Amino acid sequence: MTANAEVEPAPVATHLESTDGRSFVARGPASERPLAGDYLELDGEDGVLAFVEDVSSDGLGFAATGTLVQVGSGAQARPADAAWHDVAVRPTRPDAVHRLLSGTDPELHLGQLAGQDSVGVALVPNRLNRHTFWCGQSGSGKTYALGVLLERILVTTRLPMVVFDPNSDFVRLHEQAVEPGSDQARALQEREVVVLRPDDPDSPLRVRFTELTSRAKAAVLRLDPVVDRAEYNALLRLFDGEFNTVEAGQIVPYLRSLGDPDAEALAQRLENLGVVEWTKTWAFGATPATEVIARRPAATVLDLGGYDRSEEQLAVALAVLDDLWARRGERRPLLIVVDEAHNLCPPDPETPLGVAVRDRLIQIAAEGRKYGLWLLLSTQRPSKVHPGIVSQCDNLTLMRMNSRDDLEQLASVFGFVPRGLIAQAARFRQGEALLAGGFVPMPSVVRVRGRVTPQGGTDVPVPMP
Ligand SMILES: Nc1ncnc2c1ncn2[C@@H]1O[C@H](COP(=O)(O)OP(=O)(O)OP(=O)(O)O)[C@@H](O)[C@H]1O
Ligand SMILES: [Mg+2]
Repeated sequence: MTANAEVEPAPVATHLESTDGRSFVARGPASERPLAGDYLELDGEDGVLAFVEDVSSDGLGFAATGTLVQVGSGAQARPADAAWHDVAVRPTRPDAVHRLLSGTDPELHLGQLAGQDSVGVALVPNRLNRHTFWCGQSGSGKTYALGVLLERILVTTRLPMVVFDPNSDFVRLHEQAVEPGSDQARALQEREVVVLRPDDPDSPLRVRFTELTSRAKAAVLRLDPVVDRAEYNALLRLFDGEFNTVEAGQIVPYLRSLGDPDAEALAQRLENLGVVEWTKTWAFGATPATEVIARRPAATVLDLGGYDRSEEQLAVALAVLDDLWARRGERRPLLIVVDEAHNLCPPDPETPLGVAVRDRLIQIAAEGRKYGLWLLLSTQRPSKVHPGIVSQCDNLTLMRMNSRDDLEQLASVFGFVPRGLIAQAARFRQGEALLAGGFVPMPSVVRVRGRVTPQGGTDVPVPMP
């Protein structure tokens, strides 16, 4: 062997076959085994990459299957469905993957492709007009990464959003950026971010009881229109717009003063349930959240974490969702972001209010897309959210998840995501995410970039001596 031969690259022993020009099988020795998510270059072909979706062992070597993707004009001379036989393939260079994944605007990058730090993975913003499911076990970095996405949307699009924030994690989305004075910070500060909080006297989070739908009022008061028909009827008659002028403390005395036995029963119900004491929920004279959202600030954060009772969170969520649905005919786009979505749309809610919120979200999942109401739902396990909602999602973000059952369930619901990539989620580190669906150019495992604005609630450190 000459000295020259020693520096030449090892001959490639992996070869690819494709009968339809779209899917492929590549076989090679174990030493060249790729991972799901890798890209392979075809010898002598610049315009096509082989995207590996699944890899299995095959005797002494491996068999990889996946999809052929065009990355430039080189392949256009060939018919798209032309077969490939016995083509040598090798790991691809970052610049070829860059052309496929990174787009032209680095501001759209959600992070770097795992294993290829030089390749940014760009968001495809015009595909946020679908529902998105965001899943990962506790501590996997969902809320942090969701914050990264929301910042990218704020900086690069004019898509307004409303954020249901049960842990007060997004209440600092409007605050001084981490690097004040940077271009990023300036771009973010130009966008109007309204944070509504139960205890904030300037921007209180409130909704109007009188403006709730009849079904929502009945859910708050646990009334059944048939079983409790007299009281329900009194509710419909009495709680109209004029009621807005009655002070909170006067509602029960007012009902009693009417001398009507059904109004008396209603007064007792209000007292027993303590609904009048939800003083941080009802707007009375204050501007309700529905009016703020109707104005479409760039982002409206609803700090549901500021309520003491889960019923108050649900009442506010229902008022907002019902109002969005009632105005759906306006077809004004809105991204509806729900962190800890299992609070608002579990499979089996325990209260009438919970059922009403879940049912409205099922309806928005099924029919909202054409009205510009797009959901982005984050949770720890797929089974914690109603299946009728998960199955309507076309974009998936999957962060670390150990449970095989959960991964299996996701693979079967999100049939368009390669199983080989879903399986990797058990080994993800914090901040790594599989993104798949139209909102990214290709299914990709991404190491998410840093936040620009601070996260509200971060992990509590262990006290040390
Ligand atoms: N990419 C990251 N870079 C730096 N810190 C991160 C990153 N991802 C997460 N963290 C930090 O790790 C902690 C847990 O992350 P996060 O709150 O996002 O988890 P989660 O998946 O939303 O968990 P849970 O389901 O319990 O809400 C937080 O303190 C967060 O700031
Ligand atoms: Mg979280």
